[in-house]
Amino acid sequence: MGEVAKIELNGEIFEFPIVIGSEGEKGIDITSLRATTGFVTLDNGFMNTGSCRSAITFLNGEKGILRYRGYPIEQLCEKSHFQEVASLLIEGELPTEKNLELFKEQVGMNVELPQGVENIIDTFPARAHPMGVVASGIASLSAFYPELIAGDLSAIKQAKIISQILGQAKVMAARFYRRSLGLIPVKSRPELGYAGDFMNMMFSAPGYSVPPEVNKALDVLLILHADHEQNCSTSTVRVVGSSQANVFAAISSGIDALWGQLHGGANQAVLEMLLQIQKAGGDYKEFLAKAKDKNDSFRLMGFGHRVYKNFDPRAQIIKGHCDSVLETLGVQDELLDIAKGLEVEALKDEYFVERKLYPNVDFYSGIIYRALGIPTDMFTVMFVLGRLPGWLAQWKEMIETPGNKIARPRQIYTGFNKRDYVDIKAR
Ligand code: CMC
Repeated sequence: MGEVAKIELNGEIFEFPIVIGSEGEKGIDITSLRATTGFVTLDNGFMNTGSCRSAITFLNGEKGILRYRGYPIEQLCEKSHFQEVASLLIEGELPTEKNLELFKEQVGMNVELPQGVENIIDTFPARAHPMGVVASGIASLSAFYPELIAGDLSAIKQAKIISQILGQAKVMAARFYRRSLGLIPVKSRPELGYAGDFMNMMFSAPGYSVPPEVNKALDVLLILHADHEQNCSTSTVRVVGSSQANVFAAISSGIDALWGQLHGGANQAVLEMLLQIQKAGGDYKEFLAKAKDKNDSFRLMGFGHRVYKNFDPRAQIIKGHCDSVLETLGVQDELLDIAKGLEVEALKDEYFVERKLYPNVDFYSGIIYRALGIPTDMFTVMFVLGRLPGWLAQWKEMIETPGNKIARPRQIYTGFNKRDYVDIKAR
């Protein structure tokens, strides 16, 4: 045994192996803790729990580092594009020209929704939240492709599933958006690129085109959302997948987990908060005070992160794109000024400094989406479209890891001790 951690319990010393990751991060492997000591660990919110070994994404929250398969996101945002990053995450290496073409072709060949899925999407009320629609749409694929989820998951089946999810999710989202406005859905045109195709399916009209700078900015947003190691939704995908539930169910569950406003839903919540501040006359100091007040449940949305304790590198890149997108589109948005003012004020406020609360990925992204005409309740769907490759890569890694176990945490029971049933008349 290499380096070990020693834990003393009831006068006895137990040893547990120390595991060291490729970037030097250290963990104590407590797999045998309960069997050898009778103890479990208690870790509310999994603050200190490593749930798996993973070779996909590296994140250092103190230094603000984020890398996919070793490549810094700054380089990927500058030099790569979303479909290449998706292939990198899922396959593990930057694709060759030929493999990238093949990957794009496969995704592009899987953009037709089964008639039944179209019917399901068209049945949702126009006021439905699109996250629920896309989660249901993805879950419903299990019913339309039973052959893909039955039996062993061959590499061919996996590739087909991955292409289908990547190809169809954006079609579902755009279809629902247009249907909800009473518009006829627009066919996918994969040759426009992932972001361009999505925008065209959403907004196609005579004379409509997406300026290349805007296309690039949207592509960068998708890259920045593509993976983020073991966050809430990714862990959900892994937990659901660990029971050998089918991949459509696992990804659909990930979408539901992302929906919450402490996670991906924060992008919608940020914009609503900025609008609220604008309506109240733009006095963001009042909202800062509310966020600091422990008797008020209000939080500064788009601020803070479980892992980033210095800055969120994604937010920095997005902020840079925000100005240029608004300029390209000739949009002046007072919300951007409010957001910038709020950021400056919060970053010098003791409360936020002490707690290391910085703007996260969701703080500025909504301003770009808004400038592009994407409705506020679709913001989190944009996050989904970006995160799909990450979820699929993590699911694939999990099912390919020999000896992977069903996720089944323990608990510390705090309820009643044994007591006898009381007849209803005697209660
Ligand atoms: N506004 C005001 N106070 C905050 C905020 C905030 N946005 N975030 C954290 N705090 C305070 C919190 O009240 C606590 O204070 P105290 O120590 O006095 O009790 C302290 O900071 C630590 O917060 P926590 O809730 O224990 O930290 P966490 O790691 O459990 O939560 C978080 C992380 C992201 C859920 C939280 O910072 C938050 O609610 N942020 C706002 C929602 C948001 O923007 N979410 C998007 C996250 S990035 C996208 C993604 O990947 O999900």
